[in-house]
Amino acid sequence: MAKTIAEVQNEILKLKNEKDICILAHSYQGREIIEIADFVGDSYALSVKAKSVPNKTVIMCGVRFMAETVKLLSPDKTVILSNKNAGCPMAEQFEKEEIEYIKKKNGDPCVVCYINTTTELKTVCDVCVTSSSALKIVEKLDDKDILFIPDINLGTYVKNNVKGKNIQLLHGGCPVHACVTENEVLKAKEAHPNALLLVHPECVPEVVKHADYVGSTSGIMDFAKSSDADEFIIGTEQAIVETLQFECPEKSFYPLSVNITCRNMKTTTLVDVLNCCKGTGGEVIELEEDTMKKAKKCIDRMIELG
Ligand code: 13P
Ligand code: SF4
Repeated sequence: MAKTIAEVQNEILKLKNEKDICILAHSYQGREIIEIADFVGDSYALSVKAKSVPNKTVIMCGVRFMAETVKLLSPDKTVILSNKNAGCPMAEQFEKEEIEYIKKKNGDPCVVCYINTTTELKTVCDVCVTSSSALKIVEKLDDKDILFIPDINLGTYVKNNVKGKNIQLLHGGCPVHACVTENEVLKAKEAHPNALLLVHPECVPEVVKHADYVGSTSGIMDFAKSSDADEFIIGTEQAIVETLQFECPEKSFYPLSVNITCRNMKTTTLVDVLNCCKGTGGEVIELEEDTMKKAKKCIDRMIELG
């Protein structure tokens, strides 16, 4: 007979303890994975956490750029990406040669990259940002001319909220958040007139302009938990709606759109995590030393400015 979810979870917990493994899960992972993780959060918070844990092996349940960020901050640890097919279409949108070319053609602006980028791409960027630190970091930069990559929506949000900068954008973005339409906002507001609308800045400006709160995944969760309001329309990945409903059963959470489900984030299964623990699955992240050194510079700059 097939094992139950709880049986597989127990097997993972047993192996994880025996082999001294730390399991990290991005908050967009499925509930069954979130339940067995040591830490749950956004990509940057998880990579910082991984640095401080004593475990030599870390399994990152998320997408490739997240496992790479963990490796960048903890080069001496064995970092395993839970499912080797879990990529992020936004992170992989531009090649470093394209960015080098655009930078050269446009007067050598300061290249600000969203953390959702490959390590390879980070090697040609000047400073990295997260969705929660983007405004603060761009504001603090001495440079006036900025090329913000890859997300045109987060970039537009920064451009609209930071004065005195010349911010150039490229047509990149998250295919999951960017597919939400203004029509869906109007419909959700009509269906839930008393709910506050909380939106991720990876959504298009026509959606963001209706929001009562705009922020990162963690920002949205913190806002919903601490707010006095009872009802919320959630403009980010479906997993956040579910997690908030688990954590705040007395409040009501509605998805802004049924389409905000990241297939890449959902590629990892519980059995993948079990196989990673057994040493028969996942992919050990290997990065060239020189690439890591160059890419880490823009993360160090983010830490310095953040
Ligand atoms: P944050 O969790 O940093 O808000 O990013 C959202 C996202 O799309 C992660 O892939
Ligand atoms: Fe990439 Fe968007 Fe999925 Fe996040 S939600 S992993 S940015 S495709």
